[in-house]
Amino acid sequence: MRFTDKIALITGSSRGIGRAIALRLAAEGARIVINYRRNAEQAEAVVTEIQQLGSSAIATQADMSNGDDVRAMFQQVKEQCGGLDIFVANAAATSFRPLLRQGEHNITRTFDLTIKGFLVAVQAAVPLMQERKGKIVTISGIDSLRALSGHGLLGSAKAALENLTMYLAHELGPLGIAVNGINPGLIETDSSKMYSGGEEGYAQYVRDVLPQTPAGRVGRPEDVAAVTAFLCSEDADFIRGQTLLVDGGLLSSSVASRPHA
Ligand SMILES: NC(=O)c1ccc[n+]([C@@H]2O[C@H](COP(=O)([O-])OP(=O)(O)OC[C@H]3O[C@@H](n4cnc5c(N)ncnc54)[C@H](OP(=O)(O)O)[C@@H]3O)[C@@H](O)[C@H]2O)c1
Repeated sequence: MRFTDKIALITGSSRGIGRAIALRLAAEGARIVINYRRNAEQAEAVVTEIQQLGSSAIATQADMSNGDDVRAMFQQVKEQCGGLDIFVANAAATSFRPLLRQGEHNITRTFDLTIKGFLVAVQAAVPLMQERKGKIVTISGIDSLRALSGHGLLGSAKAALENLTMYLAHELGPLGIAVNGINPGLIETDSSKMYSGGEEGYAQYVRDVLPQTPAGRVGRPEDVAAVTAFLCSEDADFIRGQTLLVDGGLLSSSVASRPHA
């Protein structure tokens, strides 16, 4: 119960990795603010799951790419919760296609959510973390480090997010706030299945990735949630400005390192 009496807000926590992070922090005692963009029903289902764990939660709708929405959400947190201890920037959305075919609106949407909305959120979160030894965790993606087909836009936004994670660690450290990130490899979620071409495309993707993954399996949302909980705990106090790879070893692999038949 490392987070008893702590208040944690996780963006995009109505499903996937964000949901797993919310459930993990709640299981360790945190009171949770679920953020979602569209699907209120899914968000309320997570609130109910958290209540069944014996903790409390509220759901807040806010488009994290919209500065006014972001500020209104943190105002609501201030009024309803009185402060904030943990902020996890998890929400992402983009269009996966070659860079030469990215429309201007996709470029704006991806960077507004991953970079602009994140920074506006940090500006709103910091005053709520006064005297609370706050923790901020960003969720990046392996496309920031490896060129994946169609991932140029999100990958470059995530690379900028990792850079902001480093700078914010320096700027917020003197305020008692720790900032770190996680870079997940392939994690099984509805989105990773959809974006790799449905069940069949995903199965093929997994067949390609597994021989290059020392852990011998695809990641689960709970793998990312466990490391998020660690980064939000006092055990991680001396880790600052880092983005930790949670990829089962995938990134360190290359075609040359495939085991011989
Ligand atoms: N899955 C993977 O293999 C993988 C690998 C590396 C990195 N990641 C990263 O991990 C994070 C979570 O991934 P995931 O697969 O769990 O994603 P996901 O299933 O697509 O979940 C996205 C969540 O973000 C919310 N969201 C989307 N746009 C939003 C916006 N503008 N404002 C607020 N919320 C918004 C969604 O809410 P609604 O449903 O209401 O729209 C949903 O709760 C992302 O940052 C992703 O880039 C994932």
